[in-house]
Amino acid sequence: MSTPLLNSRWPIVAAPMAGGPSTVALARTVASAGGFPFIAGGYKTPNTLAAEINEIRTFTVEFGVNLFVPSKDPVNEAAFVAYAGELKTEAEQYGLELDLSPVTDDDWWDEKLALLTENPVPVVSLTFGLPHPDDIAALQKAGSRVLASVTTPDEARLAREAGVDGLVVQGPDAGGHSATFDPSRALAAVDTATLVRQVLETVQLPVIAAGGIDGPDAVRRMLDAGAQAVAVGTLLLRTDEAGTSLTHKQALADPAFTETVLTRVFTGRPARALRNGFIDRHHRTDLSAYPAVHHLTRALRQAAGEAGDTDRLHLWAGTGWRNATTGSAAAVIRHLTDRI
Ligand SMILES: Cc1cc2nc3c(=O)[nH]c(=O)nc-3n(C[C@H](O)[C@H](O)[C@H](O)COP(=O)(O)O)c2cc1C
Repeated sequence: MSTPLLNSRWPIVAAPMAGGPSTVALARTVASAGGFPFIAGGYKTPNTLAAEINEIRTFTVEFGVNLFVPSKDPVNEAAFVAYAGELKTEAEQYGLELDLSPVTDDDWWDEKLALLTENPVPVVSLTFGLPHPDDIAALQKAGSRVLASVTTPDEARLAREAGVDGLVVQGPDAGGHSATFDPSRALAAVDTATLVRQVLETVQLPVIAAGGIDGPDAVRRMLDAGAQAVAVGTLLLRTDEAGTSLTHKQALADPAFTETVLTRVFTGRPARALRNGFIDRHHRTDLSAYPAVHHLTRALRQAAGEAGDTDRLHLWAGTGWRNATTGSAAAVIRHLTDRI
């Protein structure tokens, strides 16, 4: 039996959701309901992240911080330039001129690493690949348990070799960005419970299952597959405490949306979203340039969000989106424990 990764009453994790949904208020409610809360460190400045960590410490000792591992992938320049040209008419709708030079960034990796080694938190989870093993060791030396998000048994093996304490096994049904180490890869359809079993046949590390959780039966299936805990994102998106934009919250309840799809059109990295016009107009398979495409489309997505334009916004959602409810996140956590 592997050692427990998370010290929470229930094996239910509020998955980190950057870009607004994961708030300190959500963390507070999840912690009070006996779940395990996460701060989403991605996109935030180190100062904002530090402030959130200080705030969360006022009400819980057990929580995690999630970081984006900087991308090392080369930008497919030809595809990027062709795509940028294609987006001109979309941007004109909002009187915007897009910056056509590919912009990259490392999401303040060194600064966030320094923050977390000087001011250690119980759990650090990583997504979008693996950092240098020395960085993982530094976080562990400071006292954190370090988790890598993985999407295949091969990635799980690499994560173990890099020295992590546990894994977030994310299936392709998950809402938002895939954690895949290779964003140019076409993600094979696989149920999360099956993926958890495949990973556990390959590596012996504690596992948190994520992706497509649509209720207590799914939680039971993940635990039966061998996961220590289950992470939910989409089911929390409409809750009172989530910082999801109003446009996004309304779209999740709108019957006009009939399916979710995996797409790279918004950021250059595969992500699951409600299928809308922007995805259909720009679908292409050669586009793999994160974070350059994220920067390219950012102003357009921001304008779409403010205008309530669900046709152009990235409406991240996992396959369980129809079961995302309004009300307190505490009720969602309680409901998910029904079959534990
Ligand atoms: C809006 C949104 C934002 C997300 N942001 C992050 C993130 O910052 N870091 C991360 O590791 N995963 C992120 N994810 C993925 C979740 O952590 C988790 O793997 C996923 O939500 C689980 O699948 P589900 O949405 O079907 O429950 C995000 C997911 C959503 C829906």
